[in-house]
Amino acid sequence: MSRERVFSGIQPTGTLQLGNYLGAIKGMIELVEHYECIYGIVDYHAVTVPYNVEKMPQNKLNVAIGYLAAGLDPQKATLMVQSDVPEHTELAWLFGCITSVNKLEHLPTLKDKLETVDFFSSGLLNYPILQAADIVIYKATLVPVGRDQEAHIEFTREVVRKFNNTFGQTFPEPASYNTPGAIVPSLSGEGKMSKSVPGSYIALTDTPEEIWQKLAQTLTDPRRVRRDDPGDPEACPVIWQLHHIYTPEEKRAELAEGCRTAGIGCLQCKRELYRLMMEDLSPLQERWRDLAAHPDYVRDVLREGAARVRPIAQATMAEVREKMGLAGV
Ligand code: TYM
Repeated sequence: MSRERVFSGIQPTGTLQLGNYLGAIKGMIELVEHYECIYGIVDYHAVTVPYNVEKMPQNKLNVAIGYLAAGLDPQKATLMVQSDVPEHTELAWLFGCITSVNKLEHLPTLKDKLETVDFFSSGLLNYPILQAADIVIYKATLVPVGRDQEAHIEFTREVVRKFNNTFGQTFPEPASYNTPGAIVPSLSGEGKMSKSVPGSYIALTDTPEEIWQKLAQTLTDPRRVRRDDPGDPEACPVIWQLHHIYTPEEKRAELAEGCRTAGIGCLQCKRELYRLMMEDLSPLQERWRDLAAHPDYVRDVLREGAARVRPIAQATMAEVREKMGLAGV
């Protein structure tokens, strides 16, 4: 019996940060045993905003290294580069023709993105269309992503419904798969952790010292000015949320009590978080160093991945052209 398919992607826009890992990659790993998983390095999405041409190949390699270092087994999940399967963009063109500009202009993700760029390209407007095509070209039913992506998955379902209603049942409506925990917050406490916002993130390749420095400088409950001031974990916007991801419940209750009674200081609370975080990240970083020393192995994984999935994308495009009356003359 063939298994249901999963697709997700990460943009090669810089180094991978903790939000990518906790919000998306962990979920991707969880699904590998039960689904046929395809995970992309979505380079055509990364060029929707101004970018550094010279750094792009290394950025792509780094996302692949990140997937592998986090524990994705390339025998069990397919890793590929989006532009190696050009059918993604072909399907995106056709989806663009059944999507209103008005719909795209009103997606909340666009508003956030526009705050970070000076140049508004039509590629950026069409970003969600390409994302929808990425997913459904493989007829994927599940998409492991961070909670910030919900609007794009909902949009994908709408495009699928429109296509199926217009041209006949072709695509399943995909659902998102979220890891437990909310959106990983920016270290500044404002918005989400993001590689496009300097100072907001912990990179997966940060050294242990850098990670500790970042945590040590992160703002906690503003009422805890001195060590002896009692605090409220709920008013600690970043560290407490990260404890929710990393710290077992019992230990968390202990820390909360310590915070409320000023039994422990913020630094001690952060040290506990740092310890658990590094327990998780150290093996990943070790594998990262090893993979970075063997880039040709990583390139082979990507080449084989694209070769494995391209026939699926081609079959879908043949079906789509047929359904849309484009298959012959
Ligand atoms: P990107 O590269 O911006 O993010 C990759 C993944 O990381 C998650 N993420 C977070 N999750 C929780 N907290 C955070 N602070 C945080 N920051 C990033 C994102 O939710 C995402 O899952 N649009 C996608 C890329 C994409 C895609 C696709 C995803 C293109 N085509 C098809 C799934 C299926 C994105 O946000 O990339």
